[in-house]
Amino acid sequence: MRTVTVEIPGRSYPIHIGPGARQQLRALVARRDPAQVVVIADRNVADLHLDALAAALPAVPPVVTFPAGENSKSLACAERVFGFLAEQRVERGAIVIAFGGGVAGDLGGFVAATWLRGIAFVPVATSLLAAVDASVGGKTAVNIPAGKNLVGAFHQPVGVIVDLDFLETLSGRDYASGLAECVKQAAIRDPDLFAWLEAHGEAILKREPDVLGELIARNCEVKAAVVSADEREMGLRAILNYGHTLGHAIEHRLEYDLRHGECVALGMIAENEIARGRGMLAGETVERIRALLRRCGLPTVLPRALDPAEVIESCRVDKKVQGGVPHFVLLRDVGDPVRGVADVSEAEIAAAMSAIAPG
Ligand SMILES: NC(=O)c1ccc[n+]([C@@H]2O[C@H](COP(=O)([O-])OP(=O)(O)OC[C@H]3O[C@@H](n4cnc5c(N)ncnc54)[C@H](O)[C@@H]3O)[C@@H](O)[C@H]2O)c1
Ligand SMILES: [Zn+2]
Repeated sequence: MRTVTVEIPGRSYPIHIGPGARQQLRALVARRDPAQVVVIADRNVADLHLDALAAALPAVPPVVTFPAGENSKSLACAERVFGFLAEQRVERGAIVIAFGGGVAGDLGGFVAATWLRGIAFVPVATSLLAAVDASVGGKTAVNIPAGKNLVGAFHQPVGVIVDLDFLETLSGRDYASGLAECVKQAAIRDPDLFAWLEAHGEAILKREPDVLGELIARNCEVKAAVVSADEREMGLRAILNYGHTLGHAIEHRLEYDLRHGECVALGMIAENEIARGRGMLAGETVERIRALLRRCGLPTVLPRALDPAEVIESCRVDKKVQGGVPHFVLLRDVGDPVRGVADVSEAEIAAAMSAIAPG
């Protein structure tokens, strides 16, 4: 078992990673009324693993499920969950367990952040993406038709559980989607981790337990360090948005047909083209990042053509906009990001999009 601590003054919390990590839940919910431990679960994940989760809790918990997929990160779905919490008479001292991938974490976290103005929550992250990224750092949100994650709150969990037993049933496609965020975190902050990803490609794809534990722990360390330094994204935390300015716009324009991590992979490749075009980033580093993403099983071209003008339009309604201008994180090298790049022209975005255009 590995434990990584997210250090936030007065609210530090552990991320427990390993096979059987769910056994740490009892300690996290200790001293709470067992009837006030509520599970908000992705339906796919509940079908596969709810019994194992419940067995690790002091009593059989009330459970509300939602259909798997990004469409559940909606106000309508949150409202249905609020109705359930009301029915169950969930009180201030309650704790919400968000069971599933990043969607469960974002939706469950948003509900926990707003129910009675905020109750405790613990993500039990069952996807790689949630384990290394979404469940760490306290960002919670739902989407509205105008854009992704536009309605949300900062709400730190009291702990995070990453039980590798649960991750065993994750599809290859969703696993690769999580690897995109691993590549991102290494590329912005940790050249040694980037080289480790390149060296351990095969073991990572085979999900060898030791390698998987190390992969998750090292990525959580990167994310935890960034979040500790800048919880509310006043500065440094913005580097985590590398690949996401275009990635989110692509996700929005493809109407969530691709996984989040797949869009981030495409976003990183396209944003690297902007950096290369400016003479900031060497062509061989652009290729190195693209090669690692391909090796992870991620797409390097769009599944269908997108109109660059529409992608630019979607960039403008993103959260990373100031004064109507989208902000980018561009790399100078692996481990050397420049944040707050606000002067990217429409022509640069169009050129970047052509680098990922389908055949
Ligand atoms: N809050 C943050 O800081 C943050 C960071 C990154 C991403 N996100 C959000 O996370 C979401 C993406 O997360 P995701 O990729 O985990 O998506 P997801 O939660 O939709 O999970 C992807 C798919 O995997 C399935 N699944 C999950 N765990 C499984 C398991 N153990 N076995 C079998 N199937 C399993 C789910 O049912 C779903 O179909 C996006 O909404 C993104 O915006 C948030
Ligand atoms: Zn992301």
